[in-house]
Amino acid sequence: MCRTAGQDRSKKSLQIFIENPKNQRVIAGLAQPSSFDFDIASGFLATVCKEIPGIQSWENLYRRVSSLRNCPNLSEVTSDLRRLLNTMKTRDARAGSLVATHRQKRKLIVECGLRQKSYSVADILSNNIPDTIPPITVLWRERSDSDRKIRRYTYLSEYEGPEQLTGKRIERTTDYDMIYLHNDESHIVLSGSPDKFEVELMALRQVPTGDGLYSEGLMSFLSQAVDAARDVRRNIRPTHDGVMNQIGLNMGPRHCRVFGAAKSFTKKLTDEQMISHDHDIIGAVSVFWAICQAILPEDIRSTINQYMEDEQLPALQTRNVEPGSGFTLHIKEKPFFFPYAPRAPPEAYINKGYGAPTHTDPTYCCFALAFIVRRVIDRSHPARQGAKALQDHMGGNYVDVRLGVIVASAAGTILAFKPGEMHATTLSHGACNYGYAITFSRRLADGYRELSGEKKADYFIKSEEIVSHA
Ligand SMILES: [Fe+2]
Repeated sequence: MCRTAGQDRSKKSLQIFIENPKNQRVIAGLAQPSSFDFDIASGFLATVCKEIPGIQSWENLYRRVSSLRNCPNLSEVTSDLRRLLNTMKTRDARAGSLVATHRQKRKLIVECGLRQKSYSVADILSNNIPDTIPPITVLWRERSDSDRKIRRYTYLSEYEGPEQLTGKRIERTTDYDMIYLHNDESHIVLSGSPDKFEVELMALRQVPTGDGLYSEGLMSFLSQAVDAARDVRRNIRPTHDGVMNQIGLNMGPRHCRVFGAAKSFTKKLTDEQMISHDHDIIGAVSVFWAICQAILPEDIRSTINQYMEDEQLPALQTRNVEPGSGFTLHIKEKPFFFPYAPRAPPEAYINKGYGAPTHTDPTYCCFALAFIVRRVIDRSHPARQGAKALQDHMGGNYVDVRLGVIVASAAGTILAFKPGEMHATTLSHGACNYGYAITFSRRLADGYRELSGEKKADYFIKSEEIVSHA
């Protein structure tokens, strides 16, 4: 929306507003219940209120537009505004007392540890981390090939008994120089020296840190969203163990390189169902992202955030949910709506019982993030019985091969790892982890870099841009 100096505000302002085709499209967009975005609506209305004297609400604007019956092209805008008002009224009536209150949301935020004071690895080394962060054990470890040389595409196993996999190369982790990061404490693995160190891996445990009502409800929302994804979305790694789904931006199948939002659903669902599933995953991955931003040390956060800023990466979006900010979590059947919270980065994965042999993932950003929200053990599995039965912390664990570190999987684990280094998940033997991952694959970054500034804008939309572009 633009206004040039010297225009007669009282006579021309409304016409400037409606003659701007971009703004007309915004009103039409907001009138669609399926893609209604509170942030865009409130940002747009704030600009309208500022620019047009006497307008304080959507009702005011609707009345003003309706009164200008003799203006051409107004009937469509009037009808879009009427639909927008109806959409908002319906949502308000439906939500009513059922939505989470501000106080409930604040409680969830505290339970999730989202109100942390920032800290750095230097603070960990000097034992000076905030009280709200659980103790973090520091491990010094150098990458090495000497006792940890394992070929690519090798399956790793923690089981000492006979393996059932035929025709696959399997190595036992006990035959190599590997240590466990147990799930009863958080760890950071550093190489180098206290004066000149490099963060190699971090595993934070018992996240959310609170054991309150809402954090428990959050974890069950997160694991239910994994189950729903498994049921209705495409498994993008059908030859691996378990299921991996993707949402967000991708480059299409390997044979056809097309940048855009991943085609994720396999089942025939209604638009409303797809939107609802997408919103759940956007909420799940975005709260995971918010937790990472709050509880990881500055050293890891700044590496990731700098990368996102350099690449100007847009936020998480899907084929059914347009870019924007804000997300909703459903906790104990109550929506917790955070309209101004930033969404996660654009590439996210959902895993259930997923495992892979040793491999590397090409990426420009050295860190990727994973969040395990649930772990279930099938005790009827043969490897969980008898004298050589695997203990509960074994199976389905992340291994950084050259670092020689096995991260015992457990619900409430946030893992910052280096996907460009050789890694694998140990054979599950009846262990099933539910989780999410935020990654920054090189394939996606390359595709995004190739887009023109104009094309990038399609994926990178802010409410201010929508209302201010003429
Ligand atoms: Fe990987």
